[in-house]
Amino acid sequence: MPGKSLRQLAPPTKKPKSIFLNSAAADTAAASPFASDPVDPRSMIAIAGVPLTEVASILQLATMLETEDPARRSKRLAHKRVALLFYESSTRTRTSFELAAKSLGAETTLVSALSSSIEKGESLKDTGLTLRALGAEAIILRHPNSGAASLLAHTSGLPVINAGDGMHEHPSQALLDLRTILARLYAGKSPAIDEKTLIGLTVTICGDIRHSRVARSNALLLPRLGARVLLCGPPELLPDEAADLIGSGKPKSGEKVSGSLDVRRDFDRCLRESQVVMMLRIQKERLNNLNLDLGAYIGRYQLNPRRLRATRPEILVMHPGPMIRGLEITSEVADSPQSTIEEQVAHGIPIRMALLVRALGQRSEGATS
Ligand code: CP
Repeated sequence: MPGKSLRQLAPPTKKPKSIFLNSAAADTAAASPFASDPVDPRSMIAIAGVPLTEVASILQLATMLETEDPARRSKRLAHKRVALLFYESSTRTRTSFELAAKSLGAETTLVSALSSSIEKGESLKDTGLTLRALGAEAIILRHPNSGAASLLAHTSGLPVINAGDGMHEHPSQALLDLRTILARLYAGKSPAIDEKTLIGLTVTICGDIRHSRVARSNALLLPRLGARVLLCGPPELLPDEAADLIGSGKPKSGEKVSGSLDVRRDFDRCLRESQVVMMLRIQKERLNNLNLDLGAYIGRYQLNPRRLRATRPEILVMHPGPMIRGLEITSEVADSPQSTIEEQVAHGIPIRMALLVRALGQRSEGATS
């Protein structure tokens, strides 16, 4: 193509933008000429803005689907086509969306960046339109750019479920984390989901919060249910402005935020004050040129038995995975009875079944918005 360099023809840059932009951080989408096109309301782009009544419906639907007769369940999305479009690696999210779709009877196809025409420079928009032309009725998207899920929803017109976009959001992870916390705290009972559900609970989220869409989605959801959330880490990985996220996740409907969000640097103090701790991996793929002294980091922020014994031995230990054993968490803690790490993975299937039924099922089966 005359007049254009290869660089100009390449897909959009993968350099992510700050997570501390406002929730629709959708810098990509905001700059898009398609931003005014409607998004299918059955999409799940971000947990920000989703009313708690809808969070409650999704959790309820997840439980109903989990316990439903498998033969009946497998008819819910029979012959529906779901495309899994993954520009970044994933084990848990990709596998659980695929298993969830299959157990509902849907057909799935996986398109990954490394083995598709994305490698040849095909844009996100054209990839979405291609999948739609091939019969896809919903797209599950993981992408390194904040705002990519919104952009794809705008340009494809299909329901899009965000499986993690850059440093923006990972809404299904926040929902499965909430389900995990409730399952442990309420031991099998289903509490009402409202602004009082988590009052009295303190959750520390520790580690590379700057680069974590999981931290962002949890910080946007848990305080709305009444939790006190402490974000903890060194300034390089956790700017003071992170506390400004409070309130930006609430929907326009007048919902109040009954919990709180604070930035802290002293991990031991956070642990003493918390019932739940979520540990995060350092995202070396997003660090750019940041030089972190790992020895000092481990000394101050690693979750290990010595630290737990000295602070809060019975605390619930969460991690979205993948974890780096020996860095942010030790094996003794990760494999201890108080660890919910495998439970979080397991909760991913019912939550993702619910999101798929919400996207593709009959309206009475879960499309609540
Ligand atoms: N928690 C999470 O998103 O894990 P994967 O990257 O393996 O999907």
